[in-house]
Amino acid sequence: MILHLVFMFAIICIANAGDPNILTEFIAPNNTIDANYFTFTGMRQLVGGEYPTTFKALKVTMNEFPTLNGQSVSYVVLEFPIVSINPVHIHPRASELMFLVSGSLQVGFVDTSNTLYKQTLQIGDIFVFPKGLVHFQYNNDTKEPALAISAFGSANPGTQSIPTSVFNTSIFEGILDASFHATRATLRRIEDGLKG
Ligand SMILES: *[C@@H]1O[C@H](CO)[C@@H](O)[C@H](O)[C@H]1NC(C)=O
Ligand SMILES: *[C@@H]1O[C@H](CO)[C@@H](O)[C@H](O)[C@H]1NC(C)=O
Ligand SMILES: *[C@@H]1O[C@H](CO)[C@@H](O)[C@H](O)[C@H]1NC(C)=O
Repeated sequence: MILHLVFMFAIICIANAGDPNILTEFIAPNNTIDANYFTFTGMRQLVGGEYPTTFKALKVTMNEFPTLNGQSVSYVVLEFPIVSINPVHIHPRASELMFLVSGSLQVGFVDTSNTLYKQTLQIGDIFVFPKGLVHFQYNNDTKEPALAISAFGSANPGTQSIPTSVFNTSIFEGILDASFHATRATLRRIEDGLKG
């Protein structure tokens, strides 16, 4: 009996691994919507467009495309000009499945045992960044830009930048000094670099 309960609980947990379920097929603002409500045209800007001069992430989450609310999916298109980085960050609410469609990328994530898993991706490769782990993507090529498309298992995966959240918020300086066993001068240099 107890084993049955444990088993059932495991199944319920699996079913709840993504965003909360909704009780309708989709969430509509009114009853006059049509197919346009399910269409996002904001990525047309990519067709025939130039690469930006710095790393750029074009998001299609429920913030940009409200129809995704309740659907547990979203996309981000990642544009990497030559020698550019998507700095170390976390997505608290979703795993990321990245598909490299142009160029090459150095990618990696660190698990909670502090093991680094890093890879060099070539066109056509797909890499998964497990939910909630610190990760990065870096285009180390001096001639070719890179383009990747990431799918997320949440309509609102969220992004927390490690450099910004640690060094560009008002965490008391003494806390940072003690946390990093570093002098104020060393940490000030990092903070000043982020203030831009
Ligand atoms: C219904 O919602 C859609 C999508 O947000 C909107 O474009 C449309 O104007 C709304 N129609 C009415 C009658 O409010
Ligand atoms: C970038 O490429 C240069 C030259 O090939 C190499 O020396 C360097 O280690 C690479 N850096 C990373 C982070 O892969
Ligand atoms: C750091 O914070 C300042 C002030 O809020 C902001 O202007 C700047 O863009 C932030 N830097 C980064 C790298 O996020």
